[in-house]
Amino acid sequence: MELNVGLNLDLTGKHIVLGVSGGVAAYKAATLLRRLTGAGATVQVVMTAAATRFVTPVTFQALSGKPVFVDMWDDRIADNMAHIELSRGADAILVAPATADFLAKTAQGQADDLLSTLVLARDCPLLVAPAMNRQMWENPATCRNVALLRRDGVICLGPDAGMQACGEEGCGRMLEPEALLESVINFFAPKHLAGKKLLLTAGPTFEAIDPVRGITNLSSGRMGYAVARAARQAGAEVTLISGPVALPVPQDVTRVSVQSALEMYAEVMRRVKETDIFIAVAAVADYRAECVSPQKLKKAAGGLPEIRFVENPDILAKVAALPNAPFCVGFAAESENLETYAQQKRERKKIPLMVGNLIQEAFGGADNRVILFDDAGSHPLPAAGKSQIARQLIEHIAHLMEKK
Ligand code: CTP
Repeated sequence: MELNVGLNLDLTGKHIVLGVSGGVAAYKAATLLRRLTGAGATVQVVMTAAATRFVTPVTFQALSGKPVFVDMWDDRIADNMAHIELSRGADAILVAPATADFLAKTAQGQADDLLSTLVLARDCPLLVAPAMNRQMWENPATCRNVALLRRDGVICLGPDAGMQACGEEGCGRMLEPEALLESVINFFAPKHLAGKKLLLTAGPTFEAIDPVRGITNLSSGRMGYAVARAARQAGAEVTLISGPVALPVPQDVTRVSVQSALEMYAEVMRRVKETDIFIAVAAVADYRAECVSPQKLKKAAGGLPEIRFVENPDILAKVAALPNAPFCVGFAAESENLETYAQQKRERKKIPLMVGNLIQEAFGGADNRVILFDDAGSHPLPAAGKSQIARQLIEHIAHLMEKK
């Protein structure tokens, strides 16, 4: 059975008005525009006059493929109702950067240029990405304005802390375009797992032999991180127990870093009681050295070193065997007989859902091919990138949990 997952994939079909107000961070709005269109959104850019002093409308026009509007009295809109026309049909207005002045005006409902008038006349959600000097951000007037905006339902993304254009350090930097894109995707994603607590393992484990050597595997952790991100986007509270990988933590996900299978097991068990869903994506080493040498092993004079191995706990099977176990999901990467092995593993570990893939298909191409195995049989997902596969998986989990 081919699953027909009616997914809202990233920002395809979304129409966003990107408002750019006059701050140094306006240059980052050009990258943000590229990220938004790259994720499938159509974007209409509206700038304040001050913003055009930092970046010209031509840049945004070239990147969005649409005329850019600045002036209330622009006669390119036939009935001169640009402030109404431009936001009708929009799924959201995102103002990035949002200056202190823009926030103040919006909090007060002032409308003295195209962007502020359009924001006042909107019938869609408003997201703002503040960007200003740290003292402007901390000023009681700005704090009051931001509190008012939040009370009015405006979504405030950031700001970030760090080095500022003025050379000072503190809170007030605009979030980076990639983080803003993730926030916008999070905002639109259907909240299939709202209110659920989700625990997840990802990456490889590293089993030490001596202080400098160990056994590990080639898991990049990317699939696990994509699942964590998709679960968060679906509204779950996500804790990610991660083996050693070089990946950024997905937004609003709690990451606990571990090295070995035993550490991973302990961190999972510490949290599993409060968990609704447990997804084991980690490539856990099956064995570890019985004794870790406190000193670096020296090449034995004549003869090979002898390392005794003992088995690691099967974290997934242990969680599934708990009384009141959470809804458990496993991953099976096989090199042959995918269906048989994945189903056998699902039954052996006593879990409702196993995600299977053939190892040779996971390498090389950007797209992944996975099959979901559950009580109803096998469900191949269309070949897709890891984030899309992750979203489809989350939707399938939500669907199975609904049926329970
Ligand atoms: N798993 C786990 N703890 C382990 C081994 C595996 O939690 N010690 C989980 C993995 O995260 C994955 C699933 O079990 O979700 C299947 O992992 P896999 O390595 O394919 O299964 P094994 O039981 O180790 O079987 P084999 O290595 O024989 O294929």
